[in-house]
Amino acid sequence: MISHEIRNPLTLVSSALQIIEIQHPEVINFHGWSQAIEDIEFMCNLLNELSDFNNGSTLHHSVFSLEKLLKNIAVSFAMSLDSINSNIEFTSKISLNSDNYTGDKIKFEEVILNLLQNAKDAVSEKTFTDSKGSIFLCAEKISDSIVISCTDNGCGISDDIVNTIFDPFVTYKTNGTGLGLALSKKIIEAHGGTLIVTSSDETGTVFTITLPV
Ligand SMILES: Nc1ncnc2c1ncn2[C@@H]1O[C@H](COP(=O)(O)OP(=O)(O)OP(=O)(O)O)[C@@H](O)[C@H]1O
Ligand SMILES: [Mg+2]
Repeated sequence: MISHEIRNPLTLVSSALQIIEIQHPEVINFHGWSQAIEDIEFMCNLLNELSDFNNGSTLHHSVFSLEKLLKNIAVSFAMSLDSINSNIEFTSKISLNSDNYTGDKIKFEEVILNLLQNAKDAVSEKTFTDSKGSIFLCAEKISDSIVISCTDNGCGISDDIVNTIFDPFVTYKTNGTGLGLALSKKIIEAHGGTLIVTSSDETGTVFTITLPV
């Protein structure tokens, strides 16, 4: 509620600044102008994430093809890498053979995007000499579970911080909010599943979602 109430006046401030910019284009050159715009945008995003976080366990169920959803996300993610991160290799193997998963489609997409975005950040963080950055999204049905994993060969997570990464507001990035994983875990658990991580500095990181069918 609080984040919602702050977001409304903040949106007014943001619109007012946009109008000023249209009427007086010279302000773009003012010292601190673009930084102020960026900071307001960040606050709006942060408030959006905060309300998402609160609603993490409230699911809006529908029946959808998890396989199709994951394949679409994989295509968009691959496209987003093509333009700027051509040094990252993205592959996926999605074979679920089931068209009717019941869950919250939008929240599900959010989780996968969070994991892929984190993987992209982790890979971009690392300097590769003989190899290349790689991200692999895999989804398969293993006995009575759907197992979705996101593997990267990025910077890895050290043992001393790995236990903290699912806590809200824990971030080790300059522009992170630290809500991505906390929210993702909440969403997966609301679906009756688990989200776990295994990581090492040398090989990278694997996040695994296990969902009951
Ligand atoms: N694939 C990964 N490889 C290495 N570190 C990771 C990976 N995924 C998450 N982390 C670590 O876990 C921390 C928490 O991740 P989380 O997604 O919750 O927040 P964030 O990415 O920092 O910010 P945001 O809220 O914008 O997602 C990150 O700051 C990062 O240090
Ligand atoms: Mg994140």
